[in-house]
Amino acid sequence: MNITHAVVTGAGGGIGKALAAALRAEGAHVVLADIDAAGLAAASAEIGADAVPTDVADPAAMEALADAAPGADLVCLNAGIVGGDVGVPWEVADDDWDRVFAVNVGGVRNGLRAFVPRMLDSGRPGHILITASLAGLVTFPGGGAYPVSKHAVVALAEQTALALDGTPVGVTLLCPGAVRTAMMHQGEEPADVADAALAAVREGRFTVTPAEWRAAVTRRAERLASGAHPGIPSPS
Ligand SMILES: NC(=O)c1ccc[n+]([C@@H]2O[C@H](COP(=O)([O-])OP(=O)(O)OC[C@H]3O[C@@H](n4cnc5c(N)ncnc54)[C@H](O)[C@@H]3O)[C@@H](O)[C@H]2O)c1
Repeated sequence: MNITHAVVTGAGGGIGKALAAALRAEGAHVVLADIDAAGLAAASAEIGADAVPTDVADPAAMEALADAAPGADLVCLNAGIVGGDVGVPWEVADDDWDRVFAVNVGGVRNGLRAFVPRMLDSGRPGHILITASLAGLVTFPGGGAYPVSKHAVVALAEQTALALDGTPVGVTLLCPGAVRTAMMHQGEEPADVADAALAAVREGRFTVTPAEWRAAVTRRAERLASGAHPGIPSPS
C-alpha cells in the first residue's frame, strides 16, 4: 500500500520514533503521539513531524488524536510500558497491574475505537500496525503484568484482523524480541525492527516475529495442546 499519512503512538523514543523516522524518510506526513511531552517535542523536531501529546490510556485523548490526523492510512498503535513490578503475578500491586493493562491493552483498544470507523468510512486502503511483544507469544518467567497484557494485545490484534477481513483495512502484529530502547537497553536496533514492520505492512503479512524465536512459539503451542507443563522458552 502507498502510505501518505501515518500516526505513531509512543513516538517519543524507541521503536515508535524509528517507525516515524522511517515513514517520514519515505515522504509520508507523520503525526507523533506520546505521553512524554519533552521526548515528543525532541522527536518531532528531529524528524520534522507534527506532535500531539497523548495518553493512549485516555479514550478522549485518542479521539482527539484521530481528529488531529485526518486521512491517516497507517496507524501504529505502539505505546507500551513494562510497569514497576516485574515479579510474580500475585505480588504485583493493583495500581501497577491496572496501569500496564490500561496503556498496553487499553491504548490499543482506544486506538482501534478512534481510528477504525474513520478508516472504514473513508473507503480507502488503510493499515493498522499493533506492537505487542515476543512476550505475548511465549511465556517467560516473571515480568509482572507486562507479558499477560501482551498476550491480550496479540488476541486483540487477531480479533481485529478477523473482524476487518474483507475490508480495505489490514492489520499487522509486531512481536519484537529484545530491542535496544529505553525499555530494554540491549538487542536489535529500533530502526531494523521498524524496517521489518513496515515491510510486513506493505506485504500484507500479519505477524512480525524474530526468526530465531519461531520454533519456540511452535513448541509453546504444542505444549499447550498436549497438556504438558510450561517450559522456559529458548530460541533453539
Ligand atoms: N524494547 C523491547 O525490547 C521491546 C520488546 C518487545 C516489545 N516492545 C514494545 O514496543 C513498544 C515500544 O517500546 P520501546 O521499546 O520503543 O520503549 P520506549 O520506552 O523506548 O518507548 C515507549 C514510548 O511509549 C511512550 N508511552 C508510555 N506510556 C504512554 C502512554 N500512556 N501514552 C502515550 N505514550 C506512552 C513512552 O513515553 C515512550 O516514548 C512497546 O509497546 C513495548 O512493549 C519493546
